[in-house]
Amino acid sequence: MKFFIDTANIEQIKQAEHLGILDGVTTNPSLMAKEGVTGNNNILKHYLKICNLVTGDVSAEVISVDYDGIIKEGEILANLHKQIVVKVPMIPDGIKAIKYFSEKGIKTNCTLIFSSGQALLAAKAGATYVSPFIGRLDDVSTDGLVLIEEIRLIFDNYAFETEILAASIRNPMHIINCAKIGADVMTGPLSAIIALSKHPLTDIGLEKFLADHRKGN
Ligand code: E4P
Repeated sequence: MKFFIDTANIEQIKQAEHLGILDGVTTNPSLMAKEGVTGNNNILKHYLKICNLVTGDVSAEVISVDYDGIIKEGEILANLHKQIVVKVPMIPDGIKAIKYFSEKGIKTNCTLIFSSGQALLAAKAGATYVSPFIGRLDDVSTDGLVLIEEIRLIFDNYAFETEILAASIRNPMHIINCAKIGADVMTGPLSAIIALSKHPLTDIGLEKFLADHRKGN
């Protein structure tokens, strides 16, 4: 399973990269705004900064919602750095744009996926990744993991190469459950990734080992 961090915060990206297990970064317009990154030039500079910090894919989202606008923005983003993956919303013009990008060899991440039908369409258009938002489905009393299961089944039935990028991850159990179902990638906050490493028996055991070592020296 690939691990992406879902943030535009440079310090958190550095910390995740430092762990040695980071495969990429996803961002979205809300995450960029949260870091106070505004204005086209600053946004492009921020993406470059992120690409220079990590070795994997960096999803950069288009703001346009019409075909021509998505193509224009996506090409600017893709030309910025070879690690950029153009993030396109699941709308009819977005599907058409994904088809165009895929024929041009430009990687895409189809975002805001909330149903298996949407994922199927994105895969048919040639998306590199589909991003089902499991946390946001859980927020409205719908099991986000069921969606991941459905997409896994459909993609396996037809051997689609599109990767399932489980997004809107909120906690370590989301990551574990997505791994059990076979999501190809997960993107989540640093807190959920770090939480995977925690266990009280590990802390107790380590404390005891170190205390016994001190006694012997
Ligand atoms: C996906 O790429 C999105 O950036 C993200 O996972 C959304 O998560 P949220 O529901 O926590 O905002």
